[in-house]
Amino acid sequence: MVQRTGPMKRLYDGPMIEAGRGADFLQLSPASAPARGLTSWLAAAIRAAVIDGRLPAGSSLPPTRLLAGDLGVSRGVVVEAYQRLADEGLVSGRPGTGTRVSGLAPRPVRQKKDPPRPGCAGATVLPQPWRARAGLDLSPGVPDLSGFPRAAWLRAERSVLDRASVAELGYGDPRGNEWLRRELAGWLARTRGLRAAADDIIIVSGVAQALALLAQCLTARGITRIAVEDPGSRGSREELTYWGLATVPVPVDEHGLTAGGLAGRDLRAALLTPAHQFPTGVVLAPQRRRELLDWAVAADAVIIEDDYDAEYRYDRAPVPALQAAAPGHVAYAGTTSKTLAPGMRLGWLVPPARLDADLVAAKHAADLGSPVLPQLVLARLIATGELEHHIRGVRQRQRSRRDALLGALRSHLPAARVQGVPAGLHLLITFPDLAVDDTEVAERIHRAGVLVHPLSWHRQLPGAPGLVLGYAAHTPDELREAARRIARAVRG
Ligand SMILES: Cc1ncc(COP(=O)(O)O)c(C=O)c1O
Repeated sequence: MVQRTGPMKRLYDGPMIEAGRGADFLQLSPASAPARGLTSWLAAAIRAAVIDGRLPAGSSLPPTRLLAGDLGVSRGVVVEAYQRLADEGLVSGRPGTGTRVSGLAPRPVRQKKDPPRPGCAGATVLPQPWRARAGLDLSPGVPDLSGFPRAAWLRAERSVLDRASVAELGYGDPRGNEWLRRELAGWLARTRGLRAAADDIIIVSGVAQALALLAQCLTARGITRIAVEDPGSRGSREELTYWGLATVPVPVDEHGLTAGGLAGRDLRAALLTPAHQFPTGVVLAPQRRRELLDWAVAADAVIIEDDYDAEYRYDRAPVPALQAAAPGHVAYAGTTSKTLAPGMRLGWLVPPARLDADLVAAKHAADLGSPVLPQLVLARLIATGELEHHIRGVRQRQRSRRDALLGALRSHLPAARVQGVPAGLHLLITFPDLAVDDTEVAERIHRAGVLVHPLSWHRQLPGAPGLVLGYAAHTPDELREAARRIARAVRG
């Protein structure tokens, strides 16, 4: 039934329509129709939208009865307009499927700016000549997206939608959904040794947002410089710089960050990946942990612990998070980007209590809180044990992929030294005895159809050449082929 909401008005000498009527569809308002010919006006409006791309091929037109009701015109007007467009070949209709836009001649291609390509914590814009896609993309940090647990996610989403209260769908606590924070508190205690209550956790859009919020909070406190690992994540470094923090590179060796070098440099913040250093893959040694924490206490500093892939340790349990040893000085950040998918944009931040209120205010100012449905689904996946089950499966698969790549590198490229512990989604090879420029080598490898990161991208300080190879998204056979091509390019 068409609701009659306004007085009837005669449009010039045309048909009677209701004043104030209009449709969401193309924001049509018959009040703007010309003196004669509502049908021509409606057909012209739809034709223009097809031609300028607002209605792409395949999109549906509203049912005639519905559109007529919205516009306050007779259904015959809409039927006739659709018929004219069908006669022109712009739309077609079949009983039961409604009227759809047919294909048009291709539109002129708009000049698009190069989008940032996936990188680490805050997408890194790849320099030329890596913009072209390679057949085998071994960019580090990308999980096997074909392994996303779609069925478990769907089941969980159906279940949480059945149960979610009306209140849960409203604007919530900017910290995030309480159920998820409770589940995460238990999960982080069990898997990472964290000591945190639900109220200590802020749900964020990945580690990237955790870094953004922390950088804002630190600069507001007058902190303008932050120590970063070198080599270290280029994406993270670029993001901190974007938010106004100057990054101070501190060397990493086989024991992790050389923490003894932090003291006496007027530093009050540091970003680290202690459980599995990116990109070297080493673990922060116990002595270095002590030095780091001693420095943090003495300098009253904040350590940002980026725990981006700790779920994947293949030889033993990962070392506990630093946060557990010094919750007053460590801001812990975790993510679903490696366990589920980077496109989830879902992570968590456990800051020192003294930063909490400022960070919640920054999160509120940024987006009023993260989207609730994915949070509820993640809470359910944790509560039912399905997340853990998924991670176990992925861990096994990754491990065999890592073994395949390692084996192939050993036989095809014996000059390469593999760094780090068996963990994560990437490995680093260096060439201590080869005088090569890793950027040049990576360019040659790219020409052979394989994309890898030269280690120098992730450095500010000089050091040995190397390549960072992400193996998670490829089968063992693909990895063996990649290793053959890498070896040929390095030797060439
Ligand atoms: C070192 C490091 N930190 C964090 C992340 C993940 O960031 P996010 O949770 O924003 O996707 C990545 C992803 O590649 C990374 O390499």
